[in-house]
Amino acid sequence: MKALGELVAEGWLIGLERVGYRVVENLPIEHSTIADSKNIQAVAIEYKFVRQGTALPEKSASEYAYNFSGGLPDISQFPFHEYKRAMSDVLTRPDLSQYTYGDSAGSPELVHQLKEYLRQTRSILNRDVVVTNGSQEALYIIAQLFLQAGDQVAVEALGYPPAIAAFKSAGADLVGIRLDKNGMCPLTLEAQIRFGNIKLIYLTPLHQYPTTVTLPIKHRQAIYQLATKYKIPIVEDDYDHEFHYRCQPLAPLAADDPAQLVIYLSSFSKIMFPGARIGVMAVNKRLATAIAEYRLMISHKSNVLMQASLAKWMSSGGFERHLRRTTRQNLQKRDHAVELLRELNCFEFVVPDGGMALWLKLKRKSGNITSAKALAEKALLHNICIQHQQQFIVNPMDSSDEHIRIGFAGMSIEKFATGIHKLIALLKR
Ligand SMILES: Cc1ncc(COP(=O)(O)O)c(C=O)c1O
Repeated sequence: MKALGELVAEGWLIGLERVGYRVVENLPIEHSTIADSKNIQAVAIEYKFVRQGTALPEKSASEYAYNFSGGLPDISQFPFHEYKRAMSDVLTRPDLSQYTYGDSAGSPELVHQLKEYLRQTRSILNRDVVVTNGSQEALYIIAQLFLQAGDQVAVEALGYPPAIAAFKSAGADLVGIRLDKNGMCPLTLEAQIRFGNIKLIYLTPLHQYPTTVTLPIKHRQAIYQLATKYKIPIVEDDYDHEFHYRCQPLAPLAADDPAQLVIYLSSFSKIMFPGARIGVMAVNKRLATAIAEYRLMISHKSNVLMQASLAKWMSSGGFERHLRRTTRQNLQKRDHAVELLRELNCFEFVVPDGGMALWLKLKRKSGNITSAKALAEKALLHNICIQHQQQFIVNPMDSSDEHIRIGFAGMSIEKFATGIHKLIALLKR
């Protein structure tokens, strides 16, 4: 029956109900002769790519025994069961108008929820919201819209590699602006703007990636004034603002932006899970339209089921409950991590006001390994993933190699402690 089924599918037979099978009148012989690869003498083509992406990681994030990568959330704590109700609701009563092309800026329900969320949590008002496939798509589109070969982008001297890759993909050169203990140094930025060709500034002001420091108000104002003076848009990546523990987080630059030069982006990868691929941009109307138009060439829109279920989850209050729960858990995790690392006394560090990671400087006499890169490489051999300073360096001449970045939010307090003890054992061995 299987063989007969296959012959029917290939067009050799037709099935006649309660009669049997007959050979078709016009056999599909012509087609099969053409498709017969034995008659084609060809050498496999060698593609000549003119552009290249980022090298794929050897392992996926979940394959490590201990993955301390800085920004991973604890996905096992996500309330999938509760989210299932939102998803089921959406599938039971689908809004068919959403299930086709169109609305490339985002579904109206989700856009409405996100506007309200950004208003309440980040004081962002009067902006258009665009839903993207994670903030990475937003970064890529911004790079494509604003940059061309020879342009420069000012970024923090230690920065977020996927953003840097997106800017480079548009042909731009990256200029790493010196970081002081507060984040990007406005004086160095000014010098680079005056003597260079800076077309965009990329900032992570709330929790600088990777060093975790919060850019103080004075620095923010100085950078904003420079950007206004020289008419340079600022990309503000507010990627984990939900997790700020010491006090209310400082409002983003986008909350007070009379010159409309701040391109605000954030992500649901930390508060939900990275695979959700939900990013959000808050921008002025003209830019929102340009982004939506550009998306038509890439992805049209974000997954409608994800958008609709997230909107439902937010309107039902489930998202807010999850937010409160996760913030409390992450604060506990940070405090345990800080206590443990102080006890072990192998690193110097400043306790961050928020975020999901610690920036640790190797103490000189803490072990045999003094290079952060060497420690990370050794850890990898033992199935432990940590990030090291060299991975974030923008300026090629910078050889600093004394810090590691350790995420504390991605696993339980117990697992974190076991993993850190293993790491320290490697450091001392
Ligand atoms: C600085 C920064 N921006 C953005 C993101 C989120 O990216 P996405 O929304 O593409 O998952 C991350 C996640 O690690 C990040 O560290």
